[in-house]
Amino acid sequence: MTNTSVLGGTRAEELDAAIARWKDEKGGLLPIMQQAQDICGCLNEDVQRYISEKTGHPLTTVYGIATFYSQFTLMPRGKYTVGMCMGTACYVRGGANVFTALQKATQVEPGQTTEDGLFTLEAMRCIGCCGLAPAMMVNGEVYGRLTPDDIPGIIEKYRKEG
Ligand code: FES
Repeated sequence: MTNTSVLGGTRAEELDAAIARWKDEKGGLLPIMQQAQDICGCLNEDVQRYISEKTGHPLTTVYGIATFYSQFTLMPRGKYTVGMCMGTACYVRGGANVFTALQKATQVEPGQTTEDGLFTLEAMRCIGCCGLAPAMMVNGEVYGRLTPDDIPGIIEKYRKEG
């Protein structure tokens, strides 16, 4: 059964076009799955089944690729991805406390998305700005030298932007 919130109407048509484009190419499953994620926002079970049925690749193969590559996500992501660095420099400068504040402000655990679809919370490896530790990124925008007290205001700012 197809989940229309993720794969319905024009999305299915777009995905069909991507499948038709790559189906018979060697190694074509990967670009199909990338397109599917771009179109649907994630590779949940319904999307995986759809790809499997349309391409003839076993569901286990599709699932294996979806879980192997870190660029794929099995659940819909929020509008804002909040990635807290859990690298060593950030950790020793209090990153864990900042992360706790993030979980409190968003009310979700790492890897989860808020019910309103705004935030997906992630624990990341070093994001390459250790001089700003502890640091996090929101959709690629870096926030550094964070304290737990900074977090509610930052989250609120994005909530207001909606
Ligand atoms: S360890 Fe956090 S940015 Fe490098």
